[in-house]
Amino acid sequence: MLDIIRGAGKNGIAPYGREWKYMPDVTVAKVMQKMVDYLKGDPKRIQHAIKVHSFVRNIALLSNLKRDKLTVLEITALLHDIGIPESERKYNSTAGHYQEMEGPPVARKLLKDIPLEQDDLDRICYMIGHHHSYHLIDGVDFQILIEADFLVNLHEHAIDEEGIIKIREKYFNTKVGKELLDSMYDL
Ligand SMILES: [Fe+2]
Repeated sequence: MLDIIRGAGKNGIAPYGREWKYMPDVTVAKVMQKMVDYLKGDPKRIQHAIKVHSFVRNIALLSNLKRDKLTVLEITALLHDIGIPESERKYNSTAGHYQEMEGPPVARKLLKDIPLEQDDLDRICYMIGHHHSYHLIDGVDFQILIEADFLVNLHEHAIDEEGIIKIREKYFNTKVGKELLDSMYDL
């Protein structure tokens, strides 16, 4: 019964109810391992992804994002910058548009044995492929990803208070994301 509740059906997909179609925590844990393995030797980028994932999860849970969307978003957070190594290899650049171009094919390869429905895989790749294109934010899941990435990047890039306030005004939208930012910098 417990296995059924956890959604352990064929290929990890339960035959009923969209909310329970994945074993969410195990799926996310497997994706984290794949991300760490893909980025091996680069602890800074690995830790960046893990921090973004952690903020994404908190904002999403406290904003009542639906459970199935949460799993898709957690996977996206872990892989959002996965295009960087290929951008560096092919173009000697980490520019946003190269990352956006190179990320989705790498993500599809890493996720090939993770049981995901096509529309969820497409959503993950859409967000990875546009995560520097803020004008294309088209849902609360994408919005949460952007806020979590800023929460980590503002610190990693040592942005000053004036810059933080500008970014808050321009790009933060969720109540929880704003609260986290305000507390972090005592705004
Ligand atoms: Fe990032």
